[in-house]
Amino acid sequence: MLCSSLLLASLLTLTASSPSLDRRQASLSTFVSQEQAIAIQGVLANIGGLNSSLVPGASPGVVVASPSTVNPNYFYTWTRDSALTYRMLIEELIFGNLTLRKTIEDYTAAQAIVQTVTNPSGSLWPAGDGLGEAKFYTNLTRFDGTWGRPQRDGPALRAITFMELAPVLFNLNETALYKQIYWPLVLNDLRYVGQYWNQTGYDLWEEVHGSSFFTLANQHRALVQGALLARQLNTTCQPCAQAPQILCFLQNNFWNATGGYLTADVNVNNVVRSGINSDPILASISVFDANATCNASDFQPCNSKMLATHKVLVDSFRSLYPINNNAQPPNAVLIGRYPEDTYYGGNPWALCTLGAAEMLYDAVHQIRTVGQLTVDKYSLPFFKDLSPTISVGSYTGDVLNQILVNMTTYADGFVSAVQPHLPPNGSISEQFDRTTGFSTSASKLTWSFASFVTMSRRRAGQFPLSWGASNPLANTNLTSSQCRGTSFNATGNYTPALAAGAPNVTKDCESEVIFSVNATTAFGQNIFILGNVTKLGGALNNADDIILPLNPGNYTSTTPQWYVDLWLKAGQTVAYQYVLQNGAQWVFEQHPVRTLRVGACGSGRIARANDAATFPSS
Ligand SMILES: *[C@@H]1O[C@H](CO)[C@@H](O)[C@H](O)[C@H]1NC(C)=O
Ligand SMILES: *[C@@H]1O[C@H](CO)[C@@H](O)[C@H](O)[C@H]1NC(C)=O
Ligand SMILES: *[C@@H]1O[C@H](CO)[C@@H](O)[C@H](O)[C@H]1NC(C)=O
Ligand SMILES: *[C@@H]1O[C@H](CO)[C@@H](O)[C@H](O)[C@H]1NC(C)=O
Ligand SMILES: *[C@@H]1O[C@H](CO)[C@@H](O)[C@H](O)[C@H]1NC(C)=O
Ligand SMILES: *[C@@H]1O[C@H](CO)[C@@H](O)[C@H](O)[C@H]1NC(C)=O
Ligand SMILES: *[C@@H]1O[C@H](CO)[C@@H](O)[C@H](O)[C@H]1NC(C)=O
Ligand SMILES: *[C@@H]1O[C@H](CO)[C@@H](O)[C@H](O)[C@H]1NC(C)=O
Ligand SMILES: *[C@@H]1O[C@H](CO)[C@@H](O)[C@H](O)[C@H]1NC(C)=O
Ligand SMILES: *[C@@H]1O[C@H](CO)[C@@H](O)[C@H](O)[C@H]1NC(C)=O
Ligand SMILES: *[C@@H]1O[C@H](CO)[C@@H](O)[C@H](O)[C@H]1NC(C)=O
Ligand SMILES: *[C@@H]1O[C@H](CO)[C@@H](O)[C@H](O)[C@H]1NC(C)=O
Repeated sequence: MLCSSLLLASLLTLTASSPSLDRRQASLSTFVSQEQAIAIQGVLANIGGLNSSLVPGASPGVVVASPSTVNPNYFYTWTRDSALTYRMLIEELIFGNLTLRKTIEDYTAAQAIVQTVTNPSGSLWPAGDGLGEAKFYTNLTRFDGTWGRPQRDGPALRAITFMELAPVLFNLNETALYKQIYWPLVLNDLRYVGQYWNQTGYDLWEEVHGSSFFTLANQHRALVQGALLARQLNTTCQPCAQAPQILCFLQNNFWNATGGYLTADVNVNNVVRSGINSDPILASISVFDANATCNASDFQPCNSKMLATHKVLVDSFRSLYPINNNAQPPNAVLIGRYPEDTYYGGNPWALCTLGAAEMLYDAVHQIRTVGQLTVDKYSLPFFKDLSPTISVGSYTGDVLNQILVNMTTYADGFVSAVQPHLPPNGSISEQFDRTTGFSTSASKLTWSFASFVTMSRRRAGQFPLSWGASNPLANTNLTSSQCRGTSFNATGNYTPALAAGAPNVTKDCESEVIFSVNATTAFGQNIFILGNVTKLGGALNNADDIILPLNPGNYTSTTPQWYVDLWLKAGQTVAYQYVLQNGAQWVFEQHPVRTLRVGACGSGRIARANDAATFPSS
């Protein structure tokens, strides 16, 4: 339990602040402060266990993505959205809202349980693969429908959220309690990151299977923060030693020198996209550190390549969305996830547009803290929009102040772009129609509300604590020739976080299995496996049971390989088949039932299926 009487006084000294920024339009500031209060209420109304709940049936501390149950049905709890939402609520606690501690404890218990729920991505024990499942029912049970899985950002984001609570408990002299309750929960997620960072998964938009900038940047932060926290707890975090390799991978593979932007995904097959995406922008605000310098890595908001990416991204939407009227810089516009988006109309998104503002508030703070701005060839186009006569060089003093004033005005522009499209009650949906600006897709999206709150805190000069982005641990700079596809094998070490409320799940004995199939596919088609055990869906020849997509990460024109690597109950023989997904249609292979015997308990044998499949043309 957090002790409220002493919390406020001791915590306020922890928070960074900067002088409030001047030259604000009073009307915008009034809007922001009113909407911030509405947004907090909007978040809380979507969380189980609170009186105001709009979400019947949700367990305490469970974040429902949106109360919307049709078109789209978002009445589920996502690990990513939940972690980002509760990170915001923990910040609000640190900023002084002590009443939030109960729901933060509810979230803790809920996540301790969720970590142990066996699901289509796997289970906690022995290999931790179940931690990569994207979403669950709001009563904390598994969701067996077809889905883009695994999504490897969830464990990293959840670890970060619980690590943000550490200074709070430390300040209350409750370090031992933190170590007992939270550290085992965090360590499971850090183990997962150390074990799987070098494997592909689905991105934050749940569409692209590959290696996502957002996922990796958060994974890097989680391991660095974990290593520093472990020291404070007099313990160790062995998987955290993977951090320099994640950094190496990120720094050397995501910069598109031709286009001059950070691309969203690499290791992707069959996706015809520019790579221009809000993914890196949202990564930068998630790994933002008020104390970091701009050249520490490619991911801080004030980094030149990140600012370049911001410009390319925003420009890609100026003429794309009629509502933007092709407004030119220094005007801000509404932005979406990525220009090729078609999901529910592929409209502007509130959380992307507010994220674009937040990144600039963060960057202004960082540059002001450093006291000097270095404009280089990467960031020159961004700064020319704000300061037409600027050139490559260093800026300080009054000139710097003027540039930062213009940058803040630009950031405000994104908030002003959202303002007229919110309904009078302040509700924020997922998207704004690209032509009319009317709210569309999921209503009352929790992440939209949360993004408003964090944006508004940054705008007011209120920042989260430093997580160590400037620590040498965060910046171990390997050269590209030193990048390695390493991993930390934590199999057998994942443990239910009992003190946080996890059930003492029995350790089923499981062994590793790899299904691999050569199956030539056309653009947009996917291969799934269906089998007669729960993890493989349940029943053969039943399209309703199909849950497990195979991974095309090794697919080439000469070797059209799809595969999945998972753990199944030891010693059993499973029957399975491959299924082709062609749009909304499932095409079953015409082949006698295939079987595979899973390795005996403790044998260490990996059972492999090396198959080739063809499908009747439809
Ligand atoms: C503080 O949190 C409570 C819920 O615990 C919420 O109702 C209230 O609006 C929050 N206060 C502020 C100022 O955000
Ligand atoms: C959990 O919720 C799902 C979806 O609403 C429902 O099908 C299932 O029966 C519920 N399980 C329990 C144990 O309440
Ligand atoms: C924590 O312990 C220190 C040193 O014993 C003491 O000065 C401080 O008041 C304590 N803080 C709280 C919140 O109990
Ligand atoms: C694994 O890491 C290596 C070295 O950085 C990199 O070349 C490769 O693309 C990575 N693969 C995945 C799936 O992360
Ligand atoms: C860690 O060890 C140091 C020195 O031995 C001690 O002062 C500190 O209280 C310990 N902290 C924890 C969380 O055990
Ligand atoms: C790099 O950017 C250029 C220009 O936008 C684009 O044509 C190209 O496809 C991008 N390359 C990759 C690998 O995304
Ligand atoms: C800031 O923008 C204004 C136009 O809005 C421009 O006149 C001024 O020169 C800019 N400041 C700097 C330092 O470039
Ligand atoms: C940033 O660093 C300074 C000293 O270098 C420190 O006083 C301050 O607390 C740090 N800020 C945060 C948010 O940790
Ligand atoms: C890392 O090394 C590369 C060259 O190997 C260099 O360009 C870059 O500036 C270095 N980054 C840092 C943060 O030291
Ligand atoms: C990981 O460790 C487990 C348990 O020690 C072992 O069975 C498995 O073979 C190891 N996997 C790899 C890829 O080394
Ligand atoms: C958890 O379950 C195992 C085996 O079922 C048992 O040996 C162990 O004592 C249990 N732990 C706790 C803390 O109940
Ligand atoms: C799959 O394709 C590879 C590369 O062409 C080939 O070596 C392998 O034998 C094929 N597997 C099967 C089962 O046909």
